[in-house]
Amino acid sequence: MEKIIEKFPEVFEINGKIATKNLIKGNPVYGERIVNINNTEYRFWDPNRSKLCAAIKKGLQNIYLKKGDTILYLGAATGTTSSHIADIIGEKGIEYCIEFAPISFRKLIPICEKRTNMIPIMGDARKPDIYKDVGKVDIVYEDVAQPDLGEILLTNCRYFLKKGGYAMLAVKSQSIDVTKNPEDIYKKTIKQLQKELKIIETIILDPYEKDHMFIVAQKL
Ligand SMILES: C[S@@+](CC[C@H](N)C(=O)[O-])C[C@H]1O[C@@H](n2cnc3c(N)ncnc32)[C@H](O)[C@@H]1O
Repeated sequence: MEKIIEKFPEVFEINGKIATKNLIKGNPVYGERIVNINNTEYRFWDPNRSKLCAAIKKGLQNIYLKKGDTILYLGAATGTTSSHIADIIGEKGIEYCIEFAPISFRKLIPICEKRTNMIPIMGDARKPDIYKDVGKVDIVYEDVAQPDLGEILLTNCRYFLKKGGYAMLAVKSQSIDVTKNPEDIYKKTIKQLQKELKIIETIILDPYEKDHMFIVAQKL
């Protein structure tokens, strides 16, 4: 008998494992297990494949996402995390998925064809002018693993984030400087973000993602 707890709105814990309700029945995205409980289909969410799920496992206080939200997702890759976000925001939400690597983008397209609340945009997150039609969003989520990831986030928040909206950032310290202590990189990134955003939560993602920090910040 499965034990289901609604951990956050639209985010569930089934026998200790995190899951979302599958928006497109019978359709897994990255080989994750699907279960049917009381006529509802859930997709398990792998914390070793998704930094947002790793943050949940490591004690994230809130999910910050809700049904009907508009999300700008920078570095969508092949849709692992963004597909779970699409489950959470539901059919009335919209998630703009920015990705600049052609191979990943090609794999993202069929996922967005099925999940029509995901809009794929091939573009560089450093050049928000290209996707300025996105307009104002409730959440900017970024996972780009680039040395200038802090500046990329701030630029996109200036352009797109609503007042009161949240920014979520995965910081990979090795992408910023392999020679520096991760703690020093995290402190520097937090200081950079604090110039324009209020830091709400910081979570170390080890052991799910080595030398990564997940930061949630708010635009006041
Ligand atoms: C760590 S992967 C993202 C994994 C994904 N967020 C997930 O959890 O499913 C980083 C992705 O960011 C993309 N990326 C890096 N720099 C970018 C940029 N400037 N603009 C758009 N995409 C970028 C990479 O091509 C790569 O697919």
